[in-house]
Amino acid sequence: MCGIVGYIGERSASDVLIKGLKRLEYRGYDSAGVAVMNGKMLCSKGKGKVSNLEKTLKKNKIEGFLGIGHTRWATHGEPNDVNSHPHLSESGKIAVVHNGIIENYTTLKKNLIERGRTFQSQTDTEVIAQLIEEIYTTSADITFDRAIRLALKQIVGTYGLAILNSETPDRIFIARKGSPLLLGIGDNEMFVASDASPIVEYTNKVVYLDDGEMAIVTQDSYRVKTIDDFPLTKEVHELAMSLDAIEKAGYPHFMLKEIFEQPRSVADCMRGRLNHEEGTILLGGIEDVMDHLVKARRIVIAACGTSWHSALVGEYLFEQLAKTPVEVEYASEFRYRDPLIGEGDVLLVISQSGETADTLAALREAKKRGALVLGICNVVGSTISRETDAGVFTHAGPEIGVASTKAFTAQVVVLIMMALELGERKGILGQKEMKRYLTELMRIPSKIEYILEHSDEAIQKMAGLFTYAPNFLYLGRSFNFPVALEGALKLKEISYIHAEGYPAAEMKHGPIALIDEMMPVVVIAATDHTNDKMISNIQEVKARKGRIISIMNDDNPEVKELSEFHISIPSTIDCFSPLLTVIPLQLLSYYIAVNRGCNVDQPRNLAKSVTVE
Ligand code: M6R
Repeated sequence: MCGIVGYIGERSASDVLIKGLKRLEYRGYDSAGVAVMNGKMLCSKGKGKVSNLEKTLKKNKIEGFLGIGHTRWATHGEPNDVNSHPHLSESGKIAVVHNGIIENYTTLKKNLIERGRTFQSQTDTEVIAQLIEEIYTTSADITFDRAIRLALKQIVGTYGLAILNSETPDRIFIARKGSPLLLGIGDNEMFVASDASPIVEYTNKVVYLDDGEMAIVTQDSYRVKTIDDFPLTKEVHELAMSLDAIEKAGYPHFMLKEIFEQPRSVADCMRGRLNHEEGTILLGGIEDVMDHLVKARRIVIAACGTSWHSALVGEYLFEQLAKTPVEVEYASEFRYRDPLIGEGDVLLVISQSGETADTLAALREAKKRGALVLGICNVVGSTISRETDAGVFTHAGPEIGVASTKAFTAQVVVLIMMALELGERKGILGQKEMKRYLTELMRIPSKIEYILEHSDEAIQKMAGLFTYAPNFLYLGRSFNFPVALEGALKLKEISYIHAEGYPAAEMKHGPIALIDEMMPVVVIAATDHTNDKMISNIQEVKARKGRIISIMNDDNPEVKELSEFHISIPSTIDCFSPLLTVIPLQLLSYYIAVNRGCNVDQPRNLAKSVTVE
């Protein structure tokens, strides 16, 4: 949610910033801007994509070796040129880019206006630039660094900040509270960014800032300290991310690339963790807390969006395979309803980005109340992965497309491994069953590959027929009910078609009223133990002339007969079924969105990682 990049070195700052902003654009794309220092503060910004800014900068080049840039997902103030970042102080000497929300900005702004300051924008961020300048210019013998710290003391809210001052033209100031920031250490050059994607091509040495910390970054040094001015020595981490992983590799969109990466990402997620011959699983990240999990009365899982859907799959998995009761919570609701959670409970948070503000808030709330907090994250070094007591990384590789695809399948694989491991430790699953499950789990990557190879064309054709459908219904049962929700979410977020996911049997309690000959109904009929019931539900849709698209196992003549269109997928054990059934749904939404001319990787109003509550 909003991207920040900063550079200081010997390269053209604008070039590094534009390249970096393009890589960060998945975090927000309402507007973009840069400020570069060259004797004075030079700023260029405007509504729209980074490519617009790039065109402007080609015409009116801004030269300089030090600068900051921003790509915005609007929170305060509509996305227009004036509200774009960077924001300048009244004198134009201080430039600020900001991720997060300043909650008390109206009070601060009112005070600053009373002191004679004039504002240009409706944003909360401009208040930061003005407040720093107010403190800096009205206090005797104050350093700029102290002025920032005093300003931050007055600010209530969240921020990732990069700040320039034309009076200190050799440094970038950064600060973090609730919004990720890291700095990249190059060879006689330094980078700052809200995630590693803009800097991975220059350096793999990074320092992650924690909440309440700031840093002063020059071309060849950095000083990290708390905002109370205590110096800190920070660990330098090595990035595992490669440049290839964040490029499209010949695919027209990141989303399609990420869908097709799933045979590999699912295999990577299992790599080194399974021994199917012995029937054992080793999840190093939670090994030390397994006893706690075995004793847990229940597990609460909190997440948002697609990660919430994988949490629902997790509920079925833990209850069936490990007989541990599970409650699934929207992370955004959890914190505000005085949750009954404490010692002896386990909160498991699931997040691709590891930065989702609602999920992070749920984590902190549960920790405060004494629960053990575990995480399933994709991004190594992310805030959630660092704040949980223990956890498992999904190792799916960077997911850039705003619509989550490979993160979902990797999260489900981790949940399967956790549930199996717990079931085995609780004595519910014997070695023979474990071997059977693990042998099948290891076949999943090739089954996904099979689906991608054999269904892609058929799904493209089918997408052509349904491109202009105004509504879609998705129905699933048991393990595939969350997949119905996920299919509907994928379609609505990238194609803007209204879609609903339902447990198939729930349809007759209301949504059935929507069904007529115009309504495509996607039925996920690939779970053996609910097949007969699913067939009845399909009959109910058919009787009302709904158009059935089924995702079914190879050998299901009855479902095939009832369907106008069907996609056959290989059979698997019921509880692994979401790993296969979700693939055709991802492709269907992708091709429909492409046919509708939608921006698949950057759908309107959305951002990849939602770091505001
Ligand atoms: O990074 P997270 O997994 O915490 O993100 C949660 C949701 O914001 C995310 O899944 C969102 O719903 C995606 N756009 C879905 O495709």
